[in-house]
Amino acid sequence: MSEGGAAMAERGVRWGILATGGIAAAFAADLVDLPDAEIVAVASRRRESAEAFAERFGVARAYGDWESLAADEGVDVVYVATPHTAHRAAAGLCLEAGRNVLCEKPFTLNLREAEELVALAREHGRFLMEAMWMYCNPLVRRLKALVEAGAIGEVRSVHADFGLAGPFPPAHRLRDPALGGGALLDLGVYPVSFAQLLLGEPDGIAASAVLSPEGVDLQTGAVLSWESGALASVHCSITGGTAVTASVTGSRGRIDVPAGFFHPDRFVLHRDGREPEEFTAGPADGPRTSLRHEAREVMRALRAGEKESPLVPLEGTLAVMRTLDAVRERIGVRYPGEAGAVLAR
Ligand SMILES: NC(=O)c1ccc[n+]([C@@H]2O[C@H](COP(=O)([O-])OP(=O)(O)OC[C@H]3O[C@@H](n4cnc5c(N)ncnc54)[C@H](OP(=O)(O)O)[C@@H]3O)[C@@H](O)[C@H]2O)c1
Repeated sequence: MSEGGAAMAERGVRWGILATGGIAAAFAADLVDLPDAEIVAVASRRRESAEAFAERFGVARAYGDWESLAADEGVDVVYVATPHTAHRAAAGLCLEAGRNVLCEKPFTLNLREAEELVALAREHGRFLMEAMWMYCNPLVRRLKALVEAGAIGEVRSVHADFGLAGPFPPAHRLRDPALGGGALLDLGVYPVSFAQLLLGEPDGIAASAVLSPEGVDLQTGAVLSWESGALASVHCSITGGTAVTASVTGSRGRIDVPAGFFHPDRFVLHRDGREPEEFTAGPADGPRTSLRHEAREVMRALRAGEKESPLVPLEGTLAVMRTLDAVRERIGVRYPGEAGAVLAR
């Protein structure tokens, strides 16, 4: 165990929260429930927002700028919860100042920014993880283990979708190109990450989308393919509430994950020639919307002195970003200031 890890094992992990929006509040509410976590500081672009957040969650230090949080030696790890367009700047600032970082999904706007953050974490010897909470969910881990153990034979296909009905007005974050809007980065990252959890990075990508007048994707469908013969069909939308389910079909069976596939509390395994088997979350797993599993994984890794999580490895995050870039290349979505930054596959 590293020196810092040993200290964290004794006194708990001291969290800083960067940004005070919807998911920051949800994450803080879950952290408050963990006895070995303490939120010691919060930063916002506006001091009043930081102070209101601090008041709400009992946080000692409230900053009206990100630099002060990044420089706070009393913070073990910063949770970055800005819109994706600011992830690179916010997480980079923290890493350069020596903080460990948990950064919301999608990890960054594009692969180039993701590679820069990974390089910074390695250069400064800091822990870095994408807040891909789906990968830390106990049932998703169980599903992955079953697939790896051959429960359904060789994986032939994956289906996953995530669509919200909206309607989202043009000024909403999800519609705003300046905030990395569109279905793909915000919602499509889940189906893509689900497929890549089971099959790794795809060898081929086809995609089609319907774009908004502002140029973000209202809905996108993509087919990912692997040389093994596996295919994944992934769909995301901000103009239609889809089933939000997933299924994994193999040569000897299938696994169905019901609505809310990225934070399931049950799934059904169909093995050829056998009765369906249902797998359910245990009482200790908490509410299915809880972000506690990713928070616990960060704290476990920090105490162990690890620089990345085996559940959400940085190479996996980069592989997902490469796929998202490739899909955007095919559907023609570019964000302001990005021209030339999107890599063709
Ligand atoms: N894991 C999940 O389940 C989940 C769920 C929802 C969203 N997310 C991700 O979390 C991130 C934030 O989403 P959200 O729903 O919390 O958004 P949100 O409610 O709009 O909050 C984002 C916060 O970031 C700050 N911010 C806003 N505009 C900014 C800008 N232009 N530059 C820098 N900071 C800005 C603001 O905080 P201050 O005013 O304090 O600066 C704002 O409250 C997104 O990347 C999203 O994809 C994850």
